[in-house]
Order: sequence, then C-alpha cells, then structure tokens
Amino acid sequence: MTTKRVVIVGASRGIGKALVENFASREEFEVVALSRNLGKMKTDFGILPSVKCFEFDLENDVRVQAEKLFSSIGKIDYLINNAGFLVNKPFEEITSQELQKSYQINLFGVFETVQAIIPFLNPENSHIVNISSMGGFQGSMKFSGLSAYSTSKAALCSFTELFSEEYKASTIAMNCLCLGSVQTEMLSEAFPGYQAPLNPKQVSEYISDFTINAHKFMKGKIIPLSLTNP
Ligand SMILES: NC(=O)c1ccc[n+]([C@@H]2O[C@H](COP(=O)([O-])OP(=O)(O)OC[C@H]3O[C@@H](n4cnc5c(N)ncnc54)[C@H](OP(=O)(O)O)[C@@H]3O)[C@@H](O)[C@H]2O)c1
Repeated sequence: MTTKRVVIVGASRGIGKALVENFASREEFEVVALSRNLGKMKTDFGILPSVKCFEFDLENDVRVQAEKLFSSIGKIDYLINNAGFLVNKPFEEITSQELQKSYQINLFGVFETVQAIIPFLNPENSHIVNISSMGGFQGSMKFSGLSAYSTSKAALCSFTELFSEEYKASTIAMNCLCLGSVQTEMLSEAFPGYQAPLNPKQVSEYISDFTINAHKFMKGKIIPLSLTNP
C-alpha cells in the first residue's frame, strides 16, 4: 500500500488535533502535525507511530521556516491549513496588533506556507484544504465583534479562488471549507457558554474525507459546512 503524507497546520488542539487522530487511524497515512506547542503535541500524539510533530509558528518568518521543514520530510500529498486566530471585540476596540495578528495567522501565514510547499507536493496529485469560517462566507449570518476575524477568513476564501485560477493547469488542487460553530477551545474562549451543534471529532471526519476525495470533483471551491440557515 502506498503511504500518503498529510501536513496539518494548527494540530495541537480542537479540530486540528481531531484531524491528526483521524488520519493516524488510517493505515495508509503519515501525519505531519504542526503548531507552536511542540510539547503538547508530543504528549498527545507520542503513542501514534505514524505522526511526526514539529514546531511551526505562523507569526514568525513563515516561508523560511516552512521551506526548511518541508524539504526535510519528503513528498507531500495533502496540506490542511487549519490554524486560526479569533478576536471577539467591538469594531472600535480592535487594536492594530489584533488586526495584524488576525491577518497574519488566518491569511498571510497560509499564503506563505503554500508558497513554500509547492516544490514538495506530489507532482502526480495533491490537495490543499483551507479552513475558513461561515463568517467569511458571502451572504451568511454575521456576528458582532468578528470584523477582524471574519474579514481575514473571507480573504482566505478569495485566496482559494485566485490560487486555483493561477494553478488550474497543474496537478495541485485547492479548496476551502467554511465551518459553522464547532465546540472547541477557540469557540469557548470567544463565546463562553455557547453550545455548538458539532464537536471536533465529527467535523474532522468530514474534513479528512473531503481532503482525501474532494479534489477529484472540484477545484477552487468555497464550501459552507454549517447547520444554520442562512
Ligand atoms: N471552532 C469553531 O467554531 C470554528 C468555526 C469556524 C471556523 N473555525 C476554524 O477552524 C480552525 C480550527 O479551529 P479550532 O476551533 O479548532 O481552534 P483552536 O482550538 O483555537 O485551535 C487552533 C489551532 O491553531 C494553532 N495556532 C494558533 N496560532 C498559531 C500560530 N501562530 N502558528 C501555528 N499554529 C497556530 C493552535 O496551536 P498552537 O497554539 O499550539 O500554536 C491550535 O492548534 C480555525 O482556522 C478556525 O478559525 C472554527
């Protein structure tokens, strides 16, 4: 059986952690788990033989860090850009540092990770999945306090379309999933007491199947994954 390699950015908790566990349970996968918290990943994933953990910071010299890392791990089949940063504050109170950080982690870091990974993708077929939010999906319900977060996630959707146009003749596919609420630390910190209809394990099952299969049917698509209406 051929081994497939999946890189998951933002793997230390929440949906990313569930994604690592999901792929690790599939016999044919090697998982590369990335986040700032190497110690936690080693503790949580240390017993999973197919998982390799590396420290990776989307706020720090991303392209250089990523090139060094990707050149050391072999051909990559799948990349999931799952890391995210959410600030929930009234518009006028959002600081320039919070705005910068939102865009750095949710857009610029993804942009540079993708620039760095291209030479190391499987030349026969590869799929990059960006994890955006329903808040960044045009026409969806919007929430007060999320102007920095949701605009940066909308930009990630737009990046998916623009990248896909530029790479339409290539074997590299990119798609974007806009998630509705999922019960994670990010959600509890931003909206204490709110109960989401889905947990990370449920969502990770969908995302992993989508990562493995969707590029056979679509490229450059922005897909809402939500139980709310609209
Ligand atoms: N939960 C929801 O309701 C929801 C809804 C819509 C969209 N989403 C999106 O889904 C994704 C996962 O969300 P989640 O709820 O699981 O979030 P989470 O619990 O906050 O986890 C975020 C992950 O991103 C990593 N991360 C944060 N800053 C980073 C940085 N500078 N460099 C590298 N990694 C970094 C964190 O790891 P370290 O701290 O170890 O670096 C962590 O593993 C995010 O993109 C989020 O925007 C979530």
